Amino acid sequence: MLTFFLLAAVAMQASTTDPKCTWATLDGNKPLVIAHRGASGERPEHTIAAYQLAIEQGADVIEPDLVMTKDGVLIARHDRYLSTTTDVASRPEFADRRRNRPYGSGERSDWWTDDFTLAEIKTLRAVQPRPDRPQDYNGQFEIPTFAEVVALAKAAGVAIYPETKAPAVHAEAGLDMETAVLTALSDVGWTDATAPVFIQSFEPEILRSLNTKTEVPLVQLVYELPGGNAPEANIPLADIIDYADGVGPSKVLVVGKSGDSTGFVAKAHRLGLFVHPWTFRDDQPPADGIAIDEELDRMILLGVDGLFTDFPNTAVKTTQRSCA
Ligand code: G3P
Ligand code: CA
Repeated sequence: MLTFFLLAAVAMQASTTDPKCTWATLDGNKPLVIAHRGASGERPEHTIAAYQLAIEQGADVIEPDLVMTKDGVLIARHDRYLSTTTDVASRPEFADRRRNRPYGSGERSDWWTDDFTLAEIKTLRAVQPRPDRPQDYNGQFEIPTFAEVVALAKAAGVAIYPETKAPAVHAEAGLDMETAVLTALSDVGWTDATAPVFIQSFEPEILRSLNTKTEVPLVQLVYELPGGNAPEANIPLADIIDYADGVGPSKVLVVGKSGDSTGFVAKAHRLGLFVHPWTFRDDQPPADGIAIDEELDRMILLGVDGLFTDFPNTAVKTTQRSCA
């Protein structure tokens, strides 16, 4: 661990005296600051206000998670249910819309996006789901459609990183997430490999299918299987190279619980995959006790190609400092 930090200090010193900033990323460019659900540490997640603040703070990319309405419109929400991030529970007109549905390995009683039309969704207002984050903006912002987030990204000149949430479950309800995503992107001309777009999913099936239909970069999200200090990803990198351009690992796959590199980035880079780990949070630093900027520095020195963060302002400053 000490060796790691000594090397890190040397590398940081080198980067601060080098007139040309050098990065250990796959393409040699600065790692991307990916605003996770927008600047979601400071505004209710997945609102235009959260994305707008991230853009103002200098994020390179904004990340909408996507689910669908009953009438087949993609909206920006992390979950298929609405109780934690909107004021739906306080709306008497929707009280009878609450119902039990299978969720994960069990059941959940909630309000579900595909039980609402877009017009109904637009009457709801976003709230901050984490009690330890600012509640001042609750009730102010509506739920954006994917098309509205795309339009914002295009106007602002930043990239967009849509995540298809539960495409197989949506398909069971007759909702075709893949076609809806491709249509929204093609409506603004974002169809080729140079489009400022990354499509991500935890489900490899939709990515394999998208790989036959679009040239835009595809990213397989992976999480750690139960294990020791350096756990394995749930999908092997050797499989991912068949259909994706990059991999989005949980951060513990990159730096293990003891704070040491797992070798994940180097292995992915050898296979030609870029690496965008998640999720970095100023208010939730890593278990080994270092500060958030040290956590970000550690990842940057390992060569990650982008960082999903709820606090893009901090990541922007860290990357600027690394290249000062
Ligand atoms: O998409 C990267 C990361 O956001 C995956 O986790 O649950 O925050 O969407 P989640
Ligand atoms: Ca996500």
